Amino acid sequence: MFDSKYYIERDKAVMLETYDRYPVVIEKGRGATAIDVNGKKYIDFAAGIAVNALGYADKNYVNAVIKQVKKVGHICNLYYNPTNIELAERVIAATGMKRVFFANSGAEANEGATKIARKYAADKYGPHRNVILTLNNSFHGRTITTLSATGQESYHKHFQPLTSGFVYPAENTVESIAETINENVCAIMIELIQGEGGVNLLDNDLVMGIQKLCDEHDLLLIVDEVQTGVLRTGKFLACNYFDIHPDIVTLAKGLGGGMPIGAVLANEKCEHVLSYGQHGSTFGGNPIVCAGAIEVMKRTTDPQMEKDVCEKGEYIRNKIKTFKNVKNVRGLGLFIAFDLINGNSKEVSREIAENGCLTLTAKSSMRLLPPLIISYKDIDKGLEIIKKSVEARAEK
Ligand SMILES: Cc1ncc(COP(=O)(O)O)c(C=O)c1O
Repeated sequence: MFDSKYYIERDKAVMLETYDRYPVVIEKGRGATAIDVNGKKYIDFAAGIAVNALGYADKNYVNAVIKQVKKVGHICNLYYNPTNIELAERVIAATGMKRVFFANSGAEANEGATKIARKYAADKYGPHRNVILTLNNSFHGRTITTLSATGQESYHKHFQPLTSGFVYPAENTVESIAETINENVCAIMIELIQGEGGVNLLDNDLVMGIQKLCDEHDLLLIVDEVQTGVLRTGKFLACNYFDIHPDIVTLAKGLGGGMPIGAVLANEKCEHVLSYGQHGSTFGGNPIVCAGAIEVMKRTTDPQMEKDVCEKGEYIRNKIKTFKNVKNVRGLGLFIAFDLINGNSKEVSREIAENGCLTLTAKSSMRLLPPLIISYKDIDKGLEIIKKSVEARAEK
């Protein structure tokens, strides 16, 4: 049997050096427990960055995927397929949107949203109207266009020229956003919780102000729910916490439950913007991925699960609030973050991994995104490990 060190050395020899990985080599998992090549167990409070909604090796998920791969693994999008039709129907029923396009990732979904927004505005007002306003500290993906949509300069460095047609307000306030709007702006794209940007929850006044500006200027409201969607926040969409009517919603991560998917959802205003040949994807809507996603949809639209996610989130936040050395405990559902009074979040997260719990960071914050199915027993086990490292740095 080979140990972690053996795999880490092999990885380092052949992979592009784009990830500052934790020294953890995961081989398998069950529920909310990941298991490394040495057999060491980790309580997973990361879920593959909000992906493994049903945890590892969920029986129904695995069966759905196996059943599908035995029938048909892939067909091209020039033919119809019952599995991706069913997924589309379920996604539409859960969100109230009108139509869906399936892609393979969050970035791709946001690329699709960008295309719809630009074409909607060009058809109605002319091609000059092609600019999308995004917020400071936003994160919308890693392709050249979605990097451009990402309102964080650190991500832009080294990759100029980026796609033109994105602007950011001086500040994330309604006034500043209003000042940034001109006749070339066609849409505003937001995350309701900025995940990669530090787990910043947008407040109701800001969100409602943005909706009002969209209504007044006929701008499309695009809500990027790649990280927040599919019950992560305790509602199927984070949009459901607000009285808003987005024109486009993007999903990815949790929807696939571990397999790559992205989805662009359009409302009645946008449902006919794209026509034959104007968008596509070889793998988008792949039946195996969709079969798994159907199982995710079945479970995440169950009202009991909604209740559980809200209660577990509340439970975790309340426990963390009792830890020494923490401040700004925040989040919705199982999208949770807190700050350390003392200590470096990356270092702490690494130590916690060493002690048997996987966590994430977001800027200088600690970020927790456990699988939605995590049990209270595993929550308690994971929190004990987190507490130890967090409190060890408390000022004496
Ligand atoms: C809000 C948001 N949008 C888009 C993306 C990009 O998704 P992907 O990595 O699947 O391309 C992410 C990834 O973290 C995200 O959090």
